[in-house]
Amino acid sequence: MTVNCKRIGNTFAAEVHGLDLARGIDAGLAAEIDHALATHGVLVFRGQRLDDDSQQAFIQQFGPPVVTNFKEIATGHPHFYDVGTVDNEGNPIPEDSVKGQYLLANQLWHTDGSQNQPPIRLTALHARELPPVPPPTEYADMRAAWNDLPESRRKELDGLIIEHSIYWSRSKIGMTMDDFSEETKAARKPVQHPLVRTHALNGLKALYLASHASHVIGWPLEKGRALVDELTAHATQRKYVYAHQWQPSDLVMWDDTWTMHRSTPYKEKHPRKMRWCGVRELEAV
Ligand SMILES: [Fe+2]
Repeated sequence: MTVNCKRIGNTFAAEVHGLDLARGIDAGLAAEIDHALATHGVLVFRGQRLDDDSQQAFIQQFGPPVVTNFKEIATGHPHFYDVGTVDNEGNPIPEDSVKGQYLLANQLWHTDGSQNQPPIRLTALHARELPPVPPPTEYADMRAAWNDLPESRRKELDGLIIEHSIYWSRSKIGMTMDDFSEETKAARKPVQHPLVRTHALNGLKALYLASHASHVIGWPLEKGRALVDELTAHATQRKYVYAHQWQPSDLVMWDDTWTMHRSTPYKEKHPRKMRWCGVRELEAV
């Protein structure tokens, strides 16, 4: 079977037709989806009636699922985060709660899991319940952003190493170290990743940035932070962005190795429930 993809974004992102993921996928189809993600970055599967078991069966075809055990945002399921506006009992999540602050941080441009080593490779987000006018999720094409830089600039940047830290990204929304448990602080130390990554499946290069990206190793702190800010602004110009308009039961899957994303503000009372899962790289990046 060949995955049938139709481009829906300006430079990347595609809608996939003809698959009912609740029926399960085999290793061959998972490999085709993996290659489609290497080509398109973001894949939209419309109308997927997934429950927890079928969503878990789907993500497991791409590698060991991320274990979502950080108690600040734990859901009770070992492999899912809830990205929504209400808790399991249907109560609104206060913005000043720890979970509310995590949701707020999702509005910063980021790559899932870059604050960890190994980072997350692929993410899948399923829309379980949507308001009448759902807020879009935005994605940035970091490959096109890289390709459009002048060659001399690319030579300067290729090989730089960036420090990524959950504490840096969360400081941008006003959190301090006191907001993290000792257990979390022990488990989530800053990590280092290359600024420019080469895709394992097609050898294409892309910028690798995130809200967690703090500074350049070996550079003065402020100079490195200025570079991260400059490249993030470059890569998130509208010409590189696909804004996903959610429909009920959409499953959106993306390749974290060459895309960034962010949620957009939502303050309505109607609940929005999304279930997140992902797989990590198998080795340090
Ligand atoms: Fe995310």
